[in-house]
Amino acid sequence: MPDVKLRSATASDLPSINAIYNYYVRHSTCTYQTEPETSESRAAWFAAHGPGHPIIVAEQNGLMVGWGSLSRFHPRSAYGRTVENSVYVHDQYHRRGIGGAILADLILRAGKIGHHAIIAGIDAEQSASVALHTKHGFKQVGYLSEVGFKFDRWLHVIYMQLML
Ligand SMILES: CC(C)(COP(=O)(O)OP(=O)(O)OC[C@H]1O[C@@H](n2cnc3c(N)ncnc32)[C@H](O)[C@@H]1OP(=O)(O)O)[C@@H](O)C(=O)NCCC(=O)NCCS
Repeated sequence: MPDVKLRSATASDLPSINAIYNYYVRHSTCTYQTEPETSESRAAWFAAHGPGHPIIVAEQNGLMVGWGSLSRFHPRSAYGRTVENSVYVHDQYHRRGIGGAILADLILRAGKIGHHAIIAGIDAEQSASVALHTKHGFKQVGYLSEVGFKFDRWLHVIYMQLML
């Protein structure tokens, strides 16, 4: 994957981050969001991240082809060293190693920051995401039945965890 570059996100990346993400809001159960993310809420999300909770983007020939983030797992302070990861690859760029590169970078950054555990909440239908996280050492630690409802059906969530 020599032509794909990973870097920290800036505010000017937010429209492309949203474009990649909102495809999945409309077409997939990989996010339980049912209405497209607005630019205002995306800006608030960006402002809530920082050095301890990085957002990274993957670019190929100047085009954003994916992004990933580490977010707080829970607002209560004792959860402070646990993060939840997100990885979204542009729908036209799957199976080229981009998601794996983003996740590997997030894991590296989480360790350097001093986080202790990474949690991934994954819709049980998303076998690509389960396989991606398994490949990077995550283990299934939970299964919640029928906690989401999208596209007229109940959805189940698998929780996976990586200890750092
Ligand atoms: C899940 C996702 C991020 C994978 O990104 P990708 O760039 O296509 O993945 P990669 O090419 O880096 O593949 C890495 C590994 O993931 C797994 N994987 C990826 N796509 C897969 C698929 N369709 N079926 C099975 N395994 C898959 C494999 O283990 C693969 O390793 P391999 O190529 O050695 O078999 C991408 O499909 C995506 O953006 N999906 C929608 C959003 C999503 O579900 N995000 C996760 C929520 S946190």
